Formats: sequence, structure tokens, C-alpha cells
Amino acid sequence: MTAVKSEREGSACPRTSTAPRSGAGEGVAQRRIAPAERSARFDPVRARADFPILRQKVHGAPLVYLDNAATTQKPRVVLDAMTRYYEEANANVHRGVHLLSERATKAYEDARLAVARFIGAPDPREVIFVRGTTEAVNLVAQTFGRTRVGPGDEVLVTALEHHSNIVPWQMLCREKGARLAVVPIDDAGDLDLDALDRLLGPRTRLLAVTQVSNALGTVNPLDEIVRRAHAKGVPVLVDGAQGIPHRGIDVAASGADFYAFSAHKMYGPTGIGVLWGRRELLEELPPWQGGGDMILSVTFEKTVYNALPYKFEAGTPAIAEAVGLGAAVEYLEQAGLAEVAAHERDLLAYALERLREVPDLRLVGTPRERSGAISFLVGDVHPHDVATVLDRHGVAVRAGHHCAQPLMHRLGVAATVRASVALYSTREDVDALVRALHAAREMFA
Ligand code: ALA
Repeated sequence: MTAVKSEREGSACPRTSTAPRSGAGEGVAQRRIAPAERSARFDPVRARADFPILRQKVHGAPLVYLDNAATTQKPRVVLDAMTRYYEEANANVHRGVHLLSERATKAYEDARLAVARFIGAPDPREVIFVRGTTEAVNLVAQTFGRTRVGPGDEVLVTALEHHSNIVPWQMLCREKGARLAVVPIDDAGDLDLDALDRLLGPRTRLLAVTQVSNALGTVNPLDEIVRRAHAKGVPVLVDGAQGIPHRGIDVAASGADFYAFSAHKMYGPTGIGVLWGRRELLEELPPWQGGGDMILSVTFEKTVYNALPYKFEAGTPAIAEAVGLGAAVEYLEQAGLAEVAAHERDLLAYALERLREVPDLRLVGTPRERSGAISFLVGDVHPHDVATVLDRHGVAVRAGHHCAQPLMHRLGVAATVRASVALYSTREDVDALVRALHAAREMFA
């Protein structure tokens, strides 16, 4: 477990406010857990027992939770790790010389090591804890963007992006007199890679692209995209919020320059996420927020900033949440990401097949490769009405623009109903969704 074990194990990263830091987990980067026992085939029914919230009824019906792209539920091990942290170790990190502070620091830094291992980060100092994907993108916009983007330059995003990977760039471009350019998609919801090639120009300072569309489930060909961008000398930021729970990432192999994700979409708590960046790049960037922990020394004349990752972690961090994220990482590792991905792929294929039975149901987005989510409309019934009826049957989905209004606009819809799966989703969940959709249709027909 990520949580503190015993004080005798000491701190992997003991820190005080006066001791200069040479980096998180130096010397422990090689730490590896023994490979987890994995079942040959992932069993979602067994996994459901790990999630206490799934046992409840909603409006008298068993809860069918298909709003996982918005947030996933949390397994008992994550809840326990956070409770145990508060019961046994709660203190501030990197500051105290007392035992509890050492425990808290170790728990926090162990979480960083777990994340680094999980995403294949060459160095745990490249793992910056932030509040979530949105904050990670804003951090890059406010550091990389502010120092590298000037008047007449371009930032390239895609038509598939969540508002979180549009608005920070729009704000930056407005401030700098730069231009926001957009890689278009086709009607199926796949990126137009020829257009990407054309749009990657001499003034392009960054490509910001999602790994998986939160609204349509489109899986972008990340390797190919990064290859094309780098061929033109353009760095790439990847929004991994929807990618990491379903496909994982090997940041080093991906070639990406930045990768951002949130814990709460991968069975961890809200309030914490990660910005990973290539070390050389992060080293060059100025800090973003100023405050405690991101400094080595302060006088009224001058501040010397701390080393990575602390340079970007001003203020008391979300310690218990980091511990929860570490536990979520270990949970996913033990489940086996490849097995989870295979299960979710089968389930989405089953769902697509069964949704064809619902008269007047129209898929919004039919991408070549799909992960996590299916968006659709039922006749001309408003998505919110559909979702409200589904909720009455115990089925939780999201209806709306999914924080992707430009994408909705491109596809000619104001909103969709979105069903999104997680490792604990089953064929019975899909069957319940289809039954409830028939009921919704009958109600509004
Ligand atoms: N980004 C989250 C979603 O897609 C909130 O629902």
C-alpha cells in the first residue's frame, strides 16, 4: 500500500524547511513493486465488490453507474488508504522534523513514486502534483505558454478537446496576440491527420491534444500525432484525463512533452491530478504559483526557487488525496490495465450492438477506435429528458455538451446522452441501460 507502514521504515524523502532538496525520491527511482498477481481474464463482477457505493439502490432500482467519464467510483482500498493516512500520519509534508511529518512526507512521496512507475516516467521529479487535469493544462499555459508563445505565434488544439484544453490556450493567445488554430475532425469524430500536417507550421509553438475524447470516446493515434508534430519541431501536450483509466500511458515511449491527468477518473479521489513533463523542459520553465515549498530561500529582494518537482507545488499539497491516488494506481496495477482494457473493449462492443435495438437511437460519433464512452441521441427527445428517465430506472449517465461545446457545434448537436464505462461495468449494466432507454422512448414517443 502507498500509505505509511511503520516509522522504522523512515522517510524515502525526509525534508525539513531548511534542508535544500535534491529532488523527490532520488535514489528510489528504481523502486519496483513485485508484479501483482493477475487473473488471466478480468472479472468485473468480482471487482464490483471492491466498490461500496455500487451496492446501493437509486429510486428503488439497483444503481447502474455509467457516468464514469465524469468521475469513477472509489474502491475500498482507496478509501481505507486515505482514512488510515488521517488516522495515523496526518501532518504537513516536507516541513517538520517530527515523526508524523516524516510519515506524511513518506506517504506523499511514495504516491509520487507509484505514479512515476505507473506512467513510465523516467524520473519521479517529473511528476508534479496538481489539482487535476485542468490545473495541469493551466500550469503549462502559464509557464511554457507565457515564455514560449509570442505575438503572431500559434497554439494548435483539436476539435475534440474538452474546454479545459481549449480555454487556457485561448486566454494565453488573447494575452500574447497569438492565434488558436484547430485541427478538424471528420463526421465520424476522427482527427484529420492531413489537416494536422498542414496546420503544423513554423509559428506553431505547441500542439495540445487529447488521448481519448471525453464526449465521443475517440481514441487518437497518439504515436502518429506526436511523430508528426515533432517532425516539425512542435512540442505536444497530451490531455490524458480519459485515456489513463482505460489505456494507461508510457510517457517516455509516447514521446509526448507533457501529459496531464486527474486521479478521480481513475478510481482515485477528487482534488488531485498530475502534470508530467520532460525533465529538461520542466527545468527550463519558470514557476507558476508562488508560496511555501516552492522556494529554497526568500528575502525581500530575491527568491531562489526550489528544484523539481517542488518548484511547481506551492502551498500545502493535497496529501491525503495523493495517498488515495497512490492506492488507486496500485489497485489498477493489480487489476491489470491490459485485462481491464480488454474487458472494457468487449463491453463497448456489446453496448454498441445492443443500442441498435433502440428505435430512433442515433450514435453521435462513430470513431475508428473507441474507448470509455458512447454518445447518442434518442429521436428528438432532449438528452436531459432521456437522462432523467434513465435516472428513475437507476441508470446514471451524463447529458449535455460534456464540456466540449465546439465539438458539439461541429457535429451539429447541442447535447448528447453519454454512457461511459469503467472496470466494474457489466453486460447487466448495459442491459439495464437498454431497458431504460426503451422506457424513455415510450414515454416521449
Ligand atoms: N470531464 C468530465 C466529463 O467529461 C467532467 O464528464
